[in-house]
Amino acid sequence: MLKKLMFFIKIGYKILKKDVIDSEDYRKEYNSVSKTYDLWLNEMGRFTDEIINFDYVNKDKKLKILDFACGTGYITKKLLEKNIYCEITSVDYSEEMLNQLKSVTDDGVNIVHSDGIEFLKSTDEKYDIIYFGWALSYFKYDEVFRLFKEVLREDGIVCIITNVKGTLYKIEDIFLNVMSKNQREVKKPMDISFNLPRGKDGLIKWFNKYGFKEIEVKEDEVVFYFETPEEVLQWINKTGAAAGTAQIFKNYNKIKDKLIDEIKKEKYNNGKYEINHRFAYGIFKIK
Ligand SMILES: C[S@@+](CC[C@H](N)C(=O)[O-])C[C@H]1O[C@@H](n2cnc3c(N)ncnc32)[C@H](O)[C@@H]1O
Repeated sequence: MLKKLMFFIKIGYKILKKDVIDSEDYRKEYNSVSKTYDLWLNEMGRFTDEIINFDYVNKDKKLKILDFACGTGYITKKLLEKNIYCEITSVDYSEEMLNQLKSVTDDGVNIVHSDGIEFLKSTDEKYDIIYFGWALSYFKYDEVFRLFKEVLREDGIVCIITNVKGTLYKIEDIFLNVMSKNQREVKKPMDISFNLPRGKDGLIKWFNKYGFKEIEVKEDEVVFYFETPEEVLQWINKTGAAAGTAQIFKNYNKIKDKLIDEIKKEKYNNGKYEINHRFAYGIFKIK
């Protein structure tokens, strides 16, 4: 008990000192997830499709679109399929994720390898639409929304899909338990859960605070069922669903069996192992 308490004090101290999983760790992990990220898109891309909607912009003029933290370019590719008169800038800092977008040679697409915040701070462009797919948790929402407002045209919109609190139920506890039982293996903790809005209402609140008004917003949840705990961990690792977590440990391969044991305890239900993804998605405009 005392050992566990000491561990949480130590973790809390590291979080206070910001000695936690950082942007560079996420980049590394997305580099390694890049070749299997399609697994995520195959299941969840249908929800991203719902924010690719031109009802709220003037389609008669050439649209300037920013696909922010574009990854392998799912949104960019979908936009091209729509045959809209537009110019797309697709920005991401993971070179391996961007490599999957290289097949797109359309003149109207400008691929930028850059940290998202640095890009927003340095661009002189103004955009009609910013797409922000599944990446809010890697940014400080106040900083990113403020910068979005600066680079958007007056009637510009943000189309977003993001995980919300309650997603990956128990996964954080599983990692914390393994960390507390294997303290010598811990390199640094992560505090990603602080970065998720409380459902659709939380997302609206965040946007409202920074000068955006909601046009349409929804929330949803998908549960996946697996036969074995190993498959659960594989899903997490291959999709990047809990990106950053592998960087917590000095040697992730050494810790995998311990994670599987915890998943066995925490995620078994009615003969299956289940994992949930809770998310919100919608369109916001400048007030
Ligand atoms: C879950 S993927 C989403 C990719 C894409 N938007 C989609 O909908 O499929 C998250 C992406 O955010 C990118 N990312 C995270 N932090 C970033 C940062 N600071 N600057 C640029 N890209 C970042 C990662 O490299 C990764 O490609």
